[in-house]
Amino acid sequence: MKYLKIAFIALLISTASYTHSFAQKFEELGQTPPMGWNSWNTFQTKIDEPLLKEMVDAYIASGMRDAGYTYFVLDDGWMAMDRDNNGNLVADPKKFPNGMKEFADYVHSKGLKFGIYNCAGTKTCAGYPGTHGYEYQDARLYASWGVDYLKFDWCNTDSINARDAYTTMSKAIRAAGRPMIFSLCEWGNHQPWLWAKNVGQLWRTTSDIHAGFDKDLSNGSWSSYSVMHILDLQNPIRQYAGPGHWNDPDMLEVGNGMTYSEDKAHFSLWCMLAAPLIAGNDLRKMSEQTKAILTNKEVIAVDQDSLGVQGFKYYSFDGLEIYVKPLKDNSLAICFLNRSSRQQNIYFDWKEHTLVDAIAKLDIDFGKTNYSLRDLWTKKNIGTTQHAFKQIIGAHDAVMLKLSKQ
Ligand code: GLA
Repeated sequence: MKYLKIAFIALLISTASYTHSFAQKFEELGQTPPMGWNSWNTFQTKIDEPLLKEMVDAYIASGMRDAGYTYFVLDDGWMAMDRDNNGNLVADPKKFPNGMKEFADYVHSKGLKFGIYNCAGTKTCAGYPGTHGYEYQDARLYASWGVDYLKFDWCNTDSINARDAYTTMSKAIRAAGRPMIFSLCEWGNHQPWLWAKNVGQLWRTTSDIHAGFDKDLSNGSWSSYSVMHILDLQNPIRQYAGPGHWNDPDMLEVGNGMTYSEDKAHFSLWCMLAAPLIAGNDLRKMSEQTKAILTNKEVIAVDQDSLGVQGFKYYSFDGLEIYVKPLKDNSLAICFLNRSSRQQNIYFDWKEHTLVDAIAKLDIDFGKTNYSLRDLWTKKNIGTTQHAFKQIIGAHDAVMLKLSKQ
């Protein structure tokens, strides 16, 4: 009897550790920051199959897929207001008359991956059925539709514990068996960078973004943040980002109403931050300028660099800032940002500077090491660090350079 008891306890322990190791996220996903498009920033809940199919087609025709964007993500508003008799979520039959599987198949047929949205609470932020209490059932449904990416929001969560709720959903995805990127969206309220490394591939760090350069937008009880506001909140948490687990400063607002320079600065900085690049504009109506920003492969390569280091603020004076991102092969990206509303002169004598970064184990003395310079927006080679860099930079604009060791 005693032996039987010991054997039983041993079995319990081994099952517990099995359950534990089983409940890990899909480690291989998101080794570089995920790239894609999401419906929210332009369409909010006004989405339906015809519109979204046009968007998929424009995704391909515009060159977004060729530039590296992969995911096509439906945000809030895709569901019917009630679950069916079996408790399953249902795609709104008016918006998706052919069902969600058919739409997912369409996305996949174009060589893209398919993403969907729900919420850890009882209802989504827009009032549709939330996942609380249905985690495993919803994950199985998504897997059966071919979902590759789940954005999981945080409205209507009352007394729910964030870490528990996101861990449960992560386990549910794992149990459903289909690899899915898991995108945590609790707005940084519970410091997910401290605990979500093994839970998901990305976590939002702030409130929602809006298409404004440096002014927040009040929505009554909460505010959407400007690009500059969000940028300023990323530096203190950069050590928590890396391959497979990224700080997410929210989706892109490129093409949604800011000026060309502001859009260029926004995109440059998100790439310096190794941020997920999830476009949020109407892909059918992109201007040539917007397209040129979103598909600049040399700037995207900075974001997607395999070292996976989130860049840092190196210098700030009078509205002029310098950001540095260590890249593979001992190269670097440097971004000059003019956040002031007047034109400024950049004068940067490399040889007067050293760059030290404990996180990337960087220690560069430009007096001793020479780098060649390439301007990633004009796509021109512009000399070396032997000579001071001089350039006029417009208001709300960015200049982005790649430095390669000579
Ligand atoms: C929250 C999220 C947004 C969007 C909306 C949908 O505000 O942060 O990104 O998903 O909900 O309702």
